[in-house]
Amino acid sequence: MTATNAPAAIGLHGLRKSYGATEVLPALEAELRGGEFTVILGPSGCGKSTLLNCIAGLERLSAGRITIAGREVQEAEPKDRGIAMVFQNYALYPHMSVAGNIGYALKVARVPRAEREARIAAAARIVDLGDYLHRRPSELSGGQRQRVAIARAVVREPQVLLYDEPLSNLDAKLRQDMRMELAGLHRRIGATSVFVTHDQVEAMTLADRIMVLNRGRIEQFATPQEIYHAPATAFVAGFIGAPAMTLLDVAGEGGWLRLSDGTVLARHRHQGAALLGIRPEQVLADPAGVPARVIYREDLGAHSVLTLQLGDGSRLQMAAGPGRPVAASSDIRIALPAGALHLFDPLTGRAFARHPVPSDAMKVQDDAIPS
Ligand SMILES: Nc1ncnc2c1ncn2[C@@H]1O[C@H](COP(=O)(O)OP(=O)(O)OP(=O)(O)O)[C@@H](O)[C@H]1O
Ligand SMILES: [Mg+2]
Repeated sequence: MTATNAPAAIGLHGLRKSYGATEVLPALEAELRGGEFTVILGPSGCGKSTLLNCIAGLERLSAGRITIAGREVQEAEPKDRGIAMVFQNYALYPHMSVAGNIGYALKVARVPRAEREARIAAAARIVDLGDYLHRRPSELSGGQRQRVAIARAVVREPQVLLYDEPLSNLDAKLRQDMRMELAGLHRRIGATSVFVTHDQVEAMTLADRIMVLNRGRIEQFATPQEIYHAPATAFVAGFIGAPAMTLLDVAGEGGWLRLSDGTVLARHRHQGAALLGIRPEQVLADPAGVPARVIYREDLGAHSVLTLQLGDGSRLQMAAGPGRPVAASSDIRIALPAGALHLFDPLTGRAFARHPVPSDAMKVQDDAIPS
């Protein structure tokens, strides 16, 4: 974080991690760019914490190398890696003030008192706790306590900040506030940040680039916009979006995509079996379209989400605006616009063709689509 140093990139080179016979991370290859906010996203048990702990030095690699700012660190002690970590369970010392908690690591490192106090004050200001330095943790809200935990990491002026689900214990409103604060913090200090979560909203809102992990493998490592608009695999498509993309088994023949019962779904030149993906918000009502039965309706206020059943029994979700209420167990007709269709190989899950990303949404090129 020191202003004179360029932000530290993190390189993962053939990184493997096994516990006994269980391989959790099978040979990861990736470059996390210096100064970027990388979110590692994936379902429970996919290896997110394991990967973060390997970067932090809390776990030993089974094979491979990790570089931070070009230096190999896989054999280095955690304290010598230039990192600081924020956990979900941020245990604060209850008998110490906010200042004492923030400055504890500096005290242990025998940083002189005057410098310590200046750094504590600066870190507290960054997380907006400047007026709370003398409080005890018990006199703070959950969000304020989490900010103390973040300040405790920031005060060490790390090159790299690692977060493992730091917002999971907070309520929905507080999580949203903290997302905004973390984004602001990242802009102010510019340290390379790696943030683990299984919450795709956190990933979409915080990340410069998202690494989507599935059973220890990188499914896609790209900007939120690319992940959303051009998912590289059916797994990514089915993980991102609230609700996520619907995936249907279809067959393409003679310019049409059909369900197994022969129902024509959409025009498309694909030949053969495919997984057809479509986002709920892109399904349209169309009196001349495909017949569907509304089997469930979730009213979310601003819009509702309909679960539809199609001719072959498969299900599809559709987001409907507030204008046209649709009753459950009514019959409707829908259209799947050609531009909204994503086709994936049913065997490998890979996209047959990548969708273009709207140009105004493009921040950085993705360069790590696994092959
Ligand atoms: N010490 C260990 N010994 C054996 N297996 C382990 C150990 N630690 C983790 N695992 C296994 O490794 C896999 C990945 O665990 P990890 O904690 O990295 O997942 P995660 O993606 O962080 O999940 P969550 O979102 O639930 O925190 C899991 O299947 C887990 O059971
Ligand atoms: Mg975890």
